[in-house]
Amino acid sequence: MSPSDHTIEALFDEARTFAPPDSVRANAIVSSEAIYDEAADFEAFWAKQAESLVWREPYDQVLDWSKAPFARWFVGGRLNVTESCLDQHLAERGDRVAYYWEGEPGDRKVITYRELYAEVCKLANALAEVGVEKGDRIAIYMGMVPELPVALLACARLGAPHSVVFGGFSADALADRINDAQAKVLITCDGAWRAGQVVPLKQMADEALEQTTSISSVLVVRRTENEVDMKPGRDIWYHEIVSRQPGGRPATECDSEDLLYLLYTSGTTAKPKGIVHTCAGYLTAVTATMRMVFDLHEAQDIFWCTADVGWVTGHSYVVYGPLANGATSVLYEGAPQYPDKDRFWDIVERYKVTVLYTAPTSIRTFMKWGDEYPGRHDLSSLRILGTVGEPINPEAWMWYRDVIGGGVTPVVDTWWQTETGAHIIAPLPGVTTTKPGSATFPLPGIAADVVDDEGRSVPLGQGGYLVLTRPWPSMLRGIYGDDNRFIETYWRRFSRPEEGKWVYFAGDGAKRDHDGYYWLLGRVDDVMNVSGHRISTLEVESALVDHPAVAEAAVIGRNDATTGQAIAAFVTLRGTREGDQALITELRDHVANKIGKIARPVSIVFTEELPKTRSGKIMRRLLRDISEERHLGDITTLANSAVVEEIAERARVQRKSAAPADA
Ligand code: PRX
Repeated sequence: MSPSDHTIEALFDEARTFAPPDSVRANAIVSSEAIYDEAADFEAFWAKQAESLVWREPYDQVLDWSKAPFARWFVGGRLNVTESCLDQHLAERGDRVAYYWEGEPGDRKVITYRELYAEVCKLANALAEVGVEKGDRIAIYMGMVPELPVALLACARLGAPHSVVFGGFSADALADRINDAQAKVLITCDGAWRAGQVVPLKQMADEALEQTTSISSVLVVRRTENEVDMKPGRDIWYHEIVSRQPGGRPATECDSEDLLYLLYTSGTTAKPKGIVHTCAGYLTAVTATMRMVFDLHEAQDIFWCTADVGWVTGHSYVVYGPLANGATSVLYEGAPQYPDKDRFWDIVERYKVTVLYTAPTSIRTFMKWGDEYPGRHDLSSLRILGTVGEPINPEAWMWYRDVIGGGVTPVVDTWWQTETGAHIIAPLPGVTTTKPGSATFPLPGIAADVVDDEGRSVPLGQGGYLVLTRPWPSMLRGIYGDDNRFIETYWRRFSRPEEGKWVYFAGDGAKRDHDGYYWLLGRVDDVMNVSGHRISTLEVESALVDHPAVAEAAVIGRNDATTGQAIAAFVTLRGTREGDQALITELRDHVANKIGKIARPVSIVFTEELPKTRSGKIMRRLLRDISEERHLGDITTLANSAVVEEIAERARVQRKSAAPADA
């Protein structure tokens, strides 16, 4: 597949530009583009950024790249990241609010840095009581309650890497991740509130634990008060064990390169991979990008990143980045339409949010709901608007700036990945002239390029593969337990090790326009992006063929006006089972059970055969063309071209009766 397959020409409108408003430029932390030149010595640049961390022992070397692509940053340094996120703030700003938390039903909590510190220490003590030691992996499967950031930090306090599993994932998905990491303890909730309903997290955790043997203790936060089974000897109520702990706990000293966390993400195979992040480099980059990209003035701004902590955006910009800067954040538990479609704007108005960070899929949903909802609220506190997760179409970008940002607020479109740990391509709001739909330029200290199939840099104005040509501090250090896959996935394609040239391939297509602006074009591999969530076609296919009625399945992401991409499946059946509506529902539920609701196909088309090349490869591109109603062109190379018309016809019928994307 080539990046041009994904080129959405409608994305480009190179002519429209927006310079930073004076109100932002005048007080911006970064106010001059000289910073790009200053960062030409990237090691010196990142070393300067690392000065804001609390170190126990200084490091001897900024970067050791001698074992590339396995990087070591701030070699020999000793620290505990929670001393940067908590302890350092206590003396002078212990009473500053760390989180304004708001539950979906409307309950609220204000948590100061001092309170957060005490709670983290208590939970760290509780984890130690159940036998957690430095290096043990802890799985976290929770809703967006205050105990969630506390859980991450308590693990970090002990030097015990966390592995957060998004609460929307299924029991099977949780079990796979626990098994891969061999996690020792699980922290979960009785349930989570979502759109007025209880998501039964504990029940799903129980199902997961039937498929795992490594977990010895489960801590359960009481939130929704739904009935749960507590297994004696294994399950412990969070409030019971935590309330009897002292509110102090010395931080465990870690090496710069000790594991901070694992976060599983979908790749091009059916098995999600555990992305490895370590302590010092990760914290350096998330702390620095908070200031560069969000222009975060920690004493004045109210920052709200709407992402769930189950994703990397939540790790970096709900937990570590804001706290390391001593910032005040909003944390919201639930759905944006609950109790009404103005919930976000109500929160922005009430807490006077100044910097808002959300996803294009949400913005498009808000657009669809109409201007009436933001119109009910005073949003004038907003001064910077961020977006992340997928390419943002210029129309949504303009709506965000105009309707939410009052026509003046800069939009920072941030391109990055679970693997990059922190922003990579993004504007500097006090410096960069933006273009709607473009993430603009690689950040200071970052070196990127757009290359062709042979790895040659393409001229401005052309598209190709997005690559990063220099290491950066928050880069993934590997895939947990699979060095080979790490090299094959990210480094093999464009690196030339014999010349000492290591090039990171992100899996995205990009184009640079004539002014050098980067325009992201979406994934060029078999990874779909549904509402900003990464889902592998193979993962969904293997969930489908796991159902006894399914013989073969092909899955593609087709363009969708709201969710970016929507999952479309094509299935052949075995045996005598009829491909009817009841089976469609059953298969969608089956995928939800295997992976999670986010992976449910929007449409399933039954067919006698899948279109294949003569060598037996499924023609996904053709299926995408069918799904997006494009002209099919030459199909004579197919082994079974006759089936194509039939599939196209069935897809047309299906589309008319398709389930809504978010159902
Ligand atoms: O395809 C890109 C898309 O999301 C992918 C990374 O997904 P994930 O690891 O789940 O992290 C999402 C949040 C950082 C990328 O490979 N992506 C992310 N941000 C953007 C984007 N595509 C275009 N523009 C963005 N701003």
